[in-house]
Amino acid sequence: MKLPISDRLLACAGFVAPGDRVADIGCDHGYLAIHVLTRGIARSVIAADIGEGPLQSALHNAVKFGVRDKIEFYLSDGVRNIPRDFDSMVCAGMGGDTMIHILESAPWLRNEKYRLILQCQSKTPMLRQYLSEHGWRIHEESVLRDGRFLYTVMEVVWAPDYPRLTRAEWYFPPALLENPGKELPAYYRWVVRGLEIATAHQNDAEKKQVLEELRKLPEQEDLDFLLNE
Ligand SMILES: C[S@@+](CC[C@H](N)C(=O)[O-])C[C@H]1O[C@@H](n2cnc3c(N)ncnc32)[C@H](O)[C@@H]1O
Repeated sequence: MKLPISDRLLACAGFVAPGDRVADIGCDHGYLAIHVLTRGIARSVIAADIGEGPLQSALHNAVKFGVRDKIEFYLSDGVRNIPRDFDSMVCAGMGGDTMIHILESAPWLRNEKYRLILQCQSKTPMLRQYLSEHGWRIHEESVLRDGRFLYTVMEVVWAPDYPRLTRAEWYFPPALLENPGKELPAYYRWVVRGLEIATAHQNDAEKKQVLEELRKLPEQEDLDFLLNE
């Protein structure tokens, strides 16, 4: 029996450290939890969802794939109702506003002992801004393609003394450049195109400034690969 897990979720699972106790928030079908357990990556999983239907689906799949005894299930808005004894928290397939809501409701997460693995579906610059202005550091971020779509996955740690991102970095953070994968040029062009569209009919001086800064990036000697096909 093959688990129908997406490349997007596999990329998130790639950030889980061996032996981690994982909290999968917004687990839905439970595929991430099942994958990290059946592959022997995680020690245990807390699977939480705000909806009863998704949670039942995760429970059903956990039984089907033989990992029911390694998962605790919680009906929870974010981390509100779950135990705090985990190492990494995965939030995947959610908008940046939902992730900000989850982080805002749990100040106890602001602690070096937790790692956040975030795969944001929309409003990603807003999420990066929030993280940077509230003491979180994007330690690593990578781009992947799943079907027609590009996604990024971030590994985020509590680092309140770390310098804040600039406005342009909310759109294209340095973490992406530290470990550039093959989809990075496509992501760069997608971000620039999005800003071009947003500023075409709107006199948004801040976005125009960001666009100008991002257009200059490939002029830097070691970043010309951003323009490669
Ligand atoms: C689009 S699905 C993504 C499921 C899975 N994480 C993935 O990436 O494939 C989003 C899931 O998050 C859940 N969700 C939305 N807001 C939530 C919140 N505040 N707390 C917990 N779960 C939430 C939804 O019920 C849904 O099951």
